[in-house]
Amino acid sequence: MRILSFILLVALMSGCALNQTTVFEQLGGHSKVNEIVENFVIEIERDPVILAYFEGANIDRFVTKLSEQICQRTGGPCEYTGDTMEQVHAGMNITEADFNRTVDLLINAMNRADVPHTLQNQVLNALAPTRKEMLYL
Ligand code: HEM
Repeated sequence: MRILSFILLVALMSGCALNQTTVFEQLGGHSKVNEIVENFVIEIERDPVILAYFEGANIDRFVTKLSEQICQRTGGPCEYTGDTMEQVHAGMNITEADFNRTVDLLINAMNRADVPHTLQNQVLNALAPTRKEMLYL
């Protein structure tokens, strides 16, 4: 009986360990995050409304910092080294509609990178707290 309990305990613990796989790992790591961010930039370039916000922006820096941030927020081994979301987006007067429009572009970017929908939702959840850090500032 004791040995059965022990086996059950080990099985439960390994199950827990599996559940602890990060969203970053489920995505497939750095290469998938980079693919999403590159697709996202293409989506922004195709959208005149959102592209207007990026006039004069340093796109190379945006790509590097956004990749770092997605990596960190999804549990990957990265440290975000950019400016705070408030610092970056304050004064842009981003509307709620344009925030949602940008999220749609990110979803398009993930679709084009073949990210499964359940995983897409987890990425969006990880980024959701940024919303209140950039609207109505
Ligand atoms: C999904 C939520 C968003 C996240 C996680 C996010 C994240 C970031 C990051 C990490 C940077 C680079 C920061 C740095 O350079 O230190 C950035 C820059 C920027 N973001 Fe966002 N952003 C989001 C939504 C938006 C929205 C909705 C807009 C406008 C409609 C926007 C416009 C910009 C612009 C224009 C820059 C470049 C600023 C510059 O280089 O001068 N972002 N964002």
